[in-house]
Amino acid sequence: MKAYELREAFGIDHLAITGQVTPSPGRGQALVKLRSVSLNYRDLLVVKGLYNPHIHLPFTPFSDGAGDVVAIGEGVSRVKVGDRVAGIFMQDWLGGKLTEAKQKSALGGGMQGMLAEYVALSEDGLVHIPEHLSYEEAATLPCAAVTAWHAVIEAGLRPGDRVLLLGTGGVSLFSLQFARITGAEVIITSGSDEKLEKAAHLGAAHGINYRTLPEWDRRVRELTGGAGVDLVVEVGGAGTLPQSIRAVRTGGRISLIGVLTGAEGEINPRPIVMKNVRLQGILVGSREMFESMNKAIILHRLQPVVDRVFSFGEVRDALRYMESGSHFGKICVSLS
Ligand SMILES: NC(=O)c1ccc[n+]([C@@H]2O[C@H](COP(=O)([O-])OP(=O)(O)OC[C@H]3O[C@@H](n4cnc5c(N)ncnc54)[C@H](OP(=O)(O)O)[C@@H]3O)[C@@H](O)[C@H]2O)c1
Repeated sequence: MKAYELREAFGIDHLAITGQVTPSPGRGQALVKLRSVSLNYRDLLVVKGLYNPHIHLPFTPFSDGAGDVVAIGEGVSRVKVGDRVAGIFMQDWLGGKLTEAKQKSALGGGMQGMLAEYVALSEDGLVHIPEHLSYEEAATLPCAAVTAWHAVIEAGLRPGDRVLLLGTGGVSLFSLQFARITGAEVIITSGSDEKLEKAAHLGAAHGINYRTLPEWDRRVRELTGGAGVDLVVEVGGAGTLPQSIRAVRTGGRISLIGVLTGAEGEINPRPIVMKNVRLQGILVGSREMFESMNKAIILHRLQPVVDRVFSFGEVRDALRYMESGSHFGKICVSLS
């Protein structure tokens, strides 16, 4: 089979297709023929050696993929040949709380990834995908959608609440869709007016261009009558967190997810204390969360926002496209 590998060094240019032995499913495993994989910002960091420079090479990156079960090993009962499935991000986080051990089982991080024609995974590490979704759409779910579900729904967003989303990347647009089915009011930022218009079509009530209005937290407070929002889905990291803290209401919550502006910086803890803000780190989510989310996706016929689909031979272009920040929603790679 064909698979991508970083063989001797990190870097987009070092990612190359290699011939590998097609795995056979061991006891408790299913062999999945992948039809599509999707890109996450993390994959870009992994490929560039910025996520974890201690990852052992050769390494196959990417966490998210969807496809068909084509063979099963002994003792498998959760899936059968012909089932349409996706892998869960952390293969050992089935339910309950996150532990250090579960954290190490992330595909394309602690474990080899999904950028291959076939993968053999534990039957426990798979979920069935919603019937109304294409393989590309389903491939967007394991990381970005589950993270958004965790950050918005598991965080307890309620009808009538106000939520602030930063940028129009994968996590933010899933957060927008989940917030809307909850009946919450969405304020979203972007560096592009055109993207803000697209977000309005998806149901965002207010858009703020963070380039033309660098003090966007002020505008958020204005839009909320001076109070601030109930929840911020914080994907920006050190560069945006101080403003997110100013934009959240007293007693509100920040779901801390990403590091788009960088991981390190000075944070003043005083306003977090004085405003009784709950700052909660979020690392994707469990299989249980994935399955609850799928029920909502099916019920509401939600359609993930797929910006562009590249072919298997164009993975390096897909990564460069993500690097450019031109995308609105998810970038996929088709293997069909
Ligand atoms: N903790 C977790 O479990 C978890 C899971 C998934 C992702 N993440 C992290 O979350 C972040 C977002 O991931 P993603 O996959 O959604 O990324 P993505 O799809 O690549 O989205 C990136 C978008 O973020 C926006 N952005 C960039 N700089 C910004 C800034 N200074 N302020 C506001 N928005 C900004 C841009 O939107 P516009 O073009 O509209 O400006 C850009 O298109 C990354 O840091 C990723 O590593 C964490």
